[in-house]
Amino acid sequence: MFARSISYLRISLTDHCNLRCQYCTPQEGRVKLANEELLRYEEILRVVRIAVSLGIEKVRLTGGEPLVRRDVLSFIKDLAEIPGLTDIRLTTNGVLLAEHAEALKKAGINKLNISLDTLRPERFFQITGVDAFAKVWDGISKARELGFSPIKLNVVALKGVNDDEFIDFARLTFTEPLQIRFIEFMPIGASGMWNKGKYISSAEIMELLKPLGALEPVPARRMDGPARIYRFPEAVGSVGFISPISHHFCDRCNRLRLTSEGRLRSCLLSDQETDLKQRLRSGATDEEIRDLIVKTILNKPKGHTILPDGGGSCHGQMSRIGG
Ligand code: 5AD
Ligand code: SF4
Repeated sequence: MFARSISYLRISLTDHCNLRCQYCTPQEGRVKLANEELLRYEEILRVVRIAVSLGIEKVRLTGGEPLVRRDVLSFIKDLAEIPGLTDIRLTTNGVLLAEHAEALKKAGINKLNISLDTLRPERFFQITGVDAFAKVWDGISKARELGFSPIKLNVVALKGVNDDEFIDFARLTFTEPLQIRFIEFMPIGASGMWNKGKYISSAEIMELLKPLGALEPVPARRMDGPARIYRFPEAVGSVGFISPISHHFCDRCNRLRLTSEGRLRSCLLSDQETDLKQRLRSGATDEEIRDLIVKTILNKPKGHTILPDGGGSCHGQMSRIGG
């Protein structure tokens, strides 16, 4: 068998989002799930309890934008009370972060990933369709003040769109304890924006960062996931590269995903899913749910088949699956 222990569950809390990033949102607009199609909080909590009994220790809440879901803070408090769940993290676009940061901290979240593809307000508007750069920046400052650690900024690397800012992003690590993570643009989702010309590999990004000095590799820790981490000498923060296209990390992938409509998915880039919601709503016992989770883990594909030219792309909507 392909031995990978699965210790990490990513949960898309909602497919709704208060931004409309070009690469994530279908051109004709997003068809949002109706509320009853979303997995209910008590259903999610049940799945997490069962998953923890199988060895899951870490959960990441993502979306869509998790902070737009109603009562998300009281859900997080309930989640934090599950015994054995030691690590709860959040991925957010940062728009609502400043107003919720304090409550998030109290509810039990200490580690944040914030998606931010540009440091220029007018470009932020072009990419996301919303004029909210200042709000996101406020959110990051607030999270810094409150001592969230680590704070990671996810930058989707888009050739011809934000590649002239990679240096500015990386330079932030000289003075801020941030981890700037450059993510290779994946041909996923229904936006139709992906093309070979917009893809830029991690190796090319590293080349662009050369004027800032020599990047030194930082040894990976167990829970680090797929990013390869580096640091500039004397920098307080670090720079990470997530290279799903140029360096397959499938053999090290320890994650399982729960989509916002309650499907379990063992790989972001493979459209195989197990419908848990239907079983949860038709009286399945904990044992039956546990068996389904185990089966999904055992069927985890060995590796994805997406090529740098976009061949083999998958069609799931990123906001439902969870980025
Ligand atoms: N390629 C790479 N990253 C993506 N994200 C969304 N769509 C894509 C894509 N096609 C990112 C978001 C966010 C994270 C959750 O996933 O920008 O940082
Ligand atoms: Fe929202 Fe994230 Fe998609 Fe942007 S990439 S529209 S922030 S879900």
